Amino acid sequence: MEIKLNLNGRAITAQADPDTLLLDFVRAQGCVSVKRGCDTANCGLCTVLLDGVPVLSCSVLAARADGHSVQTLEGLQSEAEEFVTFIADQGADQCGFCNPGFVMNTIALLRENPDPTDEEIRAYLAGNLCRCSGYDGQLRGIRAYLNSKKEQGGARDGAEK
Ligand code: FES
Ligand code: FES
Repeated sequence: MEIKLNLNGRAITAQADPDTLLLDFVRAQGCVSVKRGCDTANCGLCTVLLDGVPVLSCSVLAARADGHSVQTLEGLQSEAEEFVTFIADQGADQCGFCNPGFVMNTIALLRENPDPTDEEIRAYLAGNLCRCSGYDGQLRGIRAYLNSKKEQGGARDGAEK
């Protein structure tokens, strides 16, 4: 079947089987940041944004994305770049498997809720599993990033007065 969608701002038309997973579809289009981990909707590694909402691409058919917009980390580089420096500053950068899904979900969280509490951050990211961390470093990095955004906003507001 023919699938037409917008992938990271690019109009894509490609053939896929009716049972092709969105995960395999986007990887075939070169979006290899999207990783296959558990393949059972449990680890968060395969997260993409479907019309701006995070979904687990290992549990979504490519056909369901027909006519819609899909974003992967490849399409969010500028948004992600600044954020990941705060994670690295906390020594909390993750492996190449975990990092894309974690960044995708954090970006989605901050778009939805620009001023989350620690509890809201933990709840939103609960589906991102990592075998090697206690998650506290990531939480500190997100908090530092949000504080920096607030300071930038405050400095801008002050300059505008
Ligand atoms: S590979 Fe999709 S949630 Fe783990
Ligand atoms: S950072 Fe990938 S398993 Fe922990």
